[in-house]
Amino acid sequence: MHINSILKFILSAFAVAPVIGQHITTDVYNEGKVDIGGDVAIDPGASWYIYGSSREFFGGNIANSGSFYINLDYTCSALDLAANSNSVIVNSGLIAFRARGSSASYNLNIQRFENSGQIYFITENSPVVIYSIDAPIWKNTKDGSINLYSTKRISQTANLGNIGKAIINDGQICLRNHAWLAIGDVQGEGCIDIGINSVFWYQRGGHQFNSNQTIYLSTKSSTLYVGSKGQDKPYLVAGFGGGNAIALSKMIKSFDYDTTSGILTTVTGSYTMQFNIGMGYDRSQISLVPSRDLGTAIGDSTLYSAITYTGAVPDRSTSTKHCVPCKDSPKFPSRPT
Ligand SMILES: *[C@@H]1O[C@H](CO)[C@@H](O)[C@H](O)[C@H]1NC(C)=O
Repeated sequence: MHINSILKFILSAFAVAPVIGQHITTDVYNEGKVDIGGDVAIDPGASWYIYGSSREFFGGNIANSGSFYINLDYTCSALDLAANSNSVIVNSGLIAFRARGSSASYNLNIQRFENSGQIYFITENSPVVIYSIDAPIWKNTKDGSINLYSTKRISQTANLGNIGKAIINDGQICLRNHAWLAIGDVQGEGCIDIGINSVFWYQRGGHQFNSNQTIYLSTKSSTLYVGSKGQDKPYLVAGFGGGNAIALSKMIKSFDYDTTSGILTTVTGSYTMQFNIGMGYDRSQISLVPSRDLGTAIGDSTLYSAITYTGAVPDRSTSTKHCVPCKDSPKFPSRPT
């Protein structure tokens, strides 16, 4: 590291701990817990790196246009992040939170959430993880990406959005080794990228899912899991094939694929659901299978309630043009020595 930045780091480390509210205009490094009682504003080009804190409570608003890192690098400790229910989090920069210990809780139950930047919630080898960005006003704009990444499949479901309220996603939401349960309207024309060992679970319950929101099964182990009730419009599903699955909570009585419209229709008891998987599928390779093991909370693996396609994803299947490839976790800054 450059000598100036080391000095800057050291000076700021002494100057700001503990703090009430914080306006970050340069690179600031803190080790251990910081009292974040008030509003936090991080300017473009500036960064705040909190290292080795196992508990942080955001008492005020967070407006990040720079970089905000919280990293609990200790493998034995639990990370617990929470926020005041009146808080507003607006991010246009980079937020990266990482836990490597026994458990992690990212529990942001706030008033308003708006992202046009990049957010990473990372856990490495944590068996117990709670993820929640719960806000009645919830928006991920076109350039925004929200990335829930874990190195091991976790059995809890993540909660993005407020139960029964709408979320607007015009950007990108990426899951790796995660299950996200959504209960509410999903608006916008962005993309939900269901990555390795991940599930997007939509519990419709009378809510609406925008038929221009792309649900991208980006790996062989990706699953879209939809609750028992259908919706009027088809779900737009990209990447179906290679053994990934569209699963329902009820046994599927019959299914049909229309080669001219690209619509897969499933019938479960009294509900009919439609999935716009696109063109080019060979009907003989679409099959009904028992639901796979989706983690402890979801699915009954004895029911014939999932559909897979054994062939490769056809070229003319649903386009991923609204999807941006999910990025790997960012590198954390080096600690001053
Ligand atoms: C989806 O996009 C098409 C084409 O842009 C548009 O005509 C239609 O109204 C959109 N549907 C919804 C539900 O927004």
